[in-house]
Amino acid sequence: MLRLVILIFLPSVAADLLFQQNDYELTFERIELEEFDKGFLKDARIVTSKYNRTTPAMNASFTYLQNFDRDMQVVLQAYTFLSNEYRLFPMRFQFDACAAMDNNDFGFGRLLDCGNFTKCPLKKGRYLICNWSPDGSRFPPNIPNGKYMMKLEWYHANIKIFVANMYVNIYRPLTFFKQKH
Ligand SMILES: *[C@@H]1O[C@H](CO)[C@@H](O)[C@H](O)[C@H]1NC(C)=O
Ligand SMILES: *[C@@H]1O[C@H](CO)[C@@H](O)[C@H](O)[C@H]1NC(C)=O
Ligand SMILES: *[C@@H]1O[C@H](CO)[C@@H](O)[C@H](O)[C@H]1NC(C)=O
Repeated sequence: MLRLVILIFLPSVAADLLFQQNDYELTFERIELEEFDKGFLKDARIVTSKYNRTTPAMNASFTYLQNFDRDMQVVLQAYTFLSNEYRLFPMRFQFDACAAMDNNDFGFGRLLDCGNFTKCPLKKGRYLICNWSPDGSRFPPNIPNGKYMMKLEWYHANIKIFVANMYVNIYRPLTFFKQKH
């Protein structure tokens, strides 16, 4: 079931998103680590590079300095590129990171496909994630065409662990119908 929650109206939210759409195409550009809490993470690094001719993919490496239980929340805030800058876009979600990985919301389930990252609860230790890209079919429907930055803030309990910015393009391919004779 789709539960689309726009925080402008509803400040607190939904554990399970279960998004699915085939309304638009999404292309992944890159993801950047903006900041992280050095009390929780060490040697955290994210690189995005070309995976094949058409698709970039992310590699990440980080050391958890503490065990993490299931209480991990993500706040996603979208920004849209207008007049040469990213401006606040009225799409904001808060969701349970562990449930999102279980459900593959946004493609977060694929974080476990390559490397040695694990499901919740997360144990302290060093982890590698390779060749990850978001899954456009697991985003919310009805996002207008455009370039977006999705700011992802990850919280453990109420402590912000890290902030990463994911850049994507959303478009509807034009369809041309050939007239039959
Ligand atoms: C690139 O990799 C993606 C993800 O595995 C795949 O969907 C796509 O078809 C690949 N493209 C090419 C040109 O190989
Ligand atoms: C994950 O892989 C890295 C690199 O091989 C290794 O250093 C690390 O110990 C592994 N982590 C776990 C939890 O197995
Ligand atoms: C990402 O990780 C994969 C698998 O370990 C590796 O083959 C690839 O070279 C890495 N890419 C970058 C840019 O480090």
